[in-house]
Amino acid sequence: MTTVIKNGTIVTHDRTYKADVLIEGGQIIEIGVGLKGDETLDATGCYVMPGGIDPHTHLEMPFMGTYSSDDFDSGTRAALAGGTTMVVDFALPSPGQGLLDALKMWDNKSTRAHCDYSFHMAVTWWGEQVFDEMKTVIQDRGINTFKHFMAYKGALMVNDDEMYASFGRLAELGGIAMVHAENGDVVAELSAKLLAAGNTGPEAHAYSRPPQVEGEATNRAIMIADMAGVPLYVVHTSCEDSHEAIRRARQQGKRVWGEPLIQHLTLDESEYFNPDWDHAARRVMSPPFRNKQHQDSLWAGLQSGSLSVVATDHCAFTTDQKRFGVGDFTKIPNGTGGLEDRMPMLWTYGVNTGRLTPEEFVAVTSTNIAKILNCYPKKGAILPGADADIVVWDPEKTKTITAAKQVSAIDYNVFEGKEIRGLPRFTLTRGHVAVHDGELRSQEGHGEFVKRAPNTATNKALSTWKELTAPRPVERSGIPATGV
Ligand code: URP
Ligand code: ZN
Ligand code: ZN
Ligand code: ZN
Repeated sequence: MTTVIKNGTIVTHDRTYKADVLIEGGQIIEIGVGLKGDETLDATGCYVMPGGIDPHTHLEMPFMGTYSSDDFDSGTRAALAGGTTMVVDFALPSPGQGLLDALKMWDNKSTRAHCDYSFHMAVTWWGEQVFDEMKTVIQDRGINTFKHFMAYKGALMVNDDEMYASFGRLAELGGIAMVHAENGDVVAELSAKLLAAGNTGPEAHAYSRPPQVEGEATNRAIMIADMAGVPLYVVHTSCEDSHEAIRRARQQGKRVWGEPLIQHLTLDESEYFNPDWDHAARRVMSPPFRNKQHQDSLWAGLQSGSLSVVATDHCAFTTDQKRFGVGDFTKIPNGTGGLEDRMPMLWTYGVNTGRLTPEEFVAVTSTNIAKILNCYPKKGAILPGADADIVVWDPEKTKTITAAKQVSAIDYNVFEGKEIRGLPRFTLTRGHVAVHDGELRSQEGHGEFVKRAPNTATNKALSTWKELTAPRPVERSGIPATGV
């Protein structure tokens, strides 16, 4: 059984051209003109692009006394509806829990996935067991990225010495360090002070985590990664302070990537001043939304290449869950949704405004991610031999975002009312047509785990450089006798 996508314009990160795409056995087998297949998908007027990869999701995540409400079933259906064909979720050991034990839990949840997926591992505490199991996670389980929370003091946060030890171990094993960069100690102090002064509402969440705390933590993580000799991926870069640190590091030749979220690119801090408590609380996430200057900085980063990818950090809580924090903003579960809307929102606010070219869109939603995480060109490519994870994108298709029609399981949408132009006509996951002319035909359990090998070209280049420039003792001929 073969499928051909005909009459479309292929857009990759580096080329735009007219050709048909032939698919068999879940892979692209040929690209050319006048191809024929058993089933034909008409892409007239559409762009044929690599399916989106969301490098940052939290599906059914245990967090702040509850679980995020989209699981691998509803979450990956939402992903496919919006043109995303792979998600990378975070396996989170609870304090004291082993990495392999946590992975078992994520293996169980992910059997329901409708699209392919991979995991990052989180390092939430440090000890011999974590040190030992990192090797198995990397070498046997195909997970080469490890996240460290510099925030959430008393829960997921790790300290600088723990981060340095973990980064060093990753350097040795050929892994990549990731950080949630906010100064957790200062956030905890500011939160307590705000609460004591009667600032209990959701706007205080934003007051408690200003851009400076993110900028400081990003600089610190970059320094620690540099000392340990490991590449660094900074998740949810939300502000100029953090972007500036990443930009400077990259200009200095350091191997650092920044990941803005679609929420930070398109929503701003005024959301927290909404008089409706629910409206503001539904938008509570860390880092919080920022002002327009910070947004402009993030867009400029994507344009210039100092920021590399766009994610969602999809971590969806219902209004009832958000209400755990009535009277105390520190108890509002942190997180927002976005999986279904990342691609259409980025196209509408990025490509349709001229901020991004279609090729840049492909780079930041798919190809750059596949390259950094080391699953390119299986993913992120329209090439013979690549998985047929494809989105046939209709740039003229419109909709108004509304929770009433979304796939995500929660009861609201942070992008409610946004007018979109640019949506999938078809979404294919390993050749299976999961979205057909707007109709969702995905299959529970179709998704497969994507292994990602360590020792990427970036790892090798960085270790070569670190070895070459390592401190060495000075050879001296005449060593004076020790004094008495
Ligand atoms: O507020 C957020 N971002 N929630 C999800 C967990 C995290 O920090 O990534
Ligand atoms: Zn985070
Ligand atoms: Zn996250
Ligand atoms: Zn299938």
